[in-house]
Amino acid sequence: MATASNAKDLRTELAELAAKASSAHELMSAIVRLLQERMLKYNWVGFYMLENSPGQAPVLVLGPFEGAMTPHTRIPLHQGICGAAASTGQTVVVDDVSKDDRYLACSLETKSEIVVPIFVREKVVGELDIDSHFPAAFRQEDRELVEYCAGLVGQRLARTSAGK
Ligand code: SME
Repeated sequence: MATASNAKDLRTELAELAAKASSAHELMSAIVRLLQERMLKYNWVGFYMLENSPGQAPVLVLGPFEGAMTPHTRIPLHQGICGAAASTGQTVVVDDVSKDDRYLACSLETKSEIVVPIFVREKVVGELDIDSHFPAAFRQEDRELVEYCAGLVGQRLARTSAGK
């Protein structure tokens, strides 16, 4: 779990990463590396971005990640904890994935999960997904940290889509 001082230091580093990243993709890659390296219970850290193709149902597509390769590279919005977070626009925290029928297994070791949506101009454009090998790994301070990361990516994407 994030400790207050740890989370504060990380926020400073994350803000620096956001300031110097030359693209949203570069920022996302740096965030997954930093979180997985520094937060010992964050065992799989990855982004899913919403793909909207004309005439097709929207789907979440795996973006930059750290951890083992997942079989879930494309997740429809009606599936998984990932689909739930993206379709409701709400952060989802699951303390025990074995008790959640929505859960799509990625690793047998995963015990808990958090998924935080990313917004650009109030629309969900993707999400940050973190799995832990520990039950109930994501407390309030973790939620705030992960939401902070998702916010940085949303801001970066908003700048990109505004042509900056
Ligand atoms: N567990 C997720 C699927 C993605 S993997 O965790 C990387 C879900 O239930 O949507």
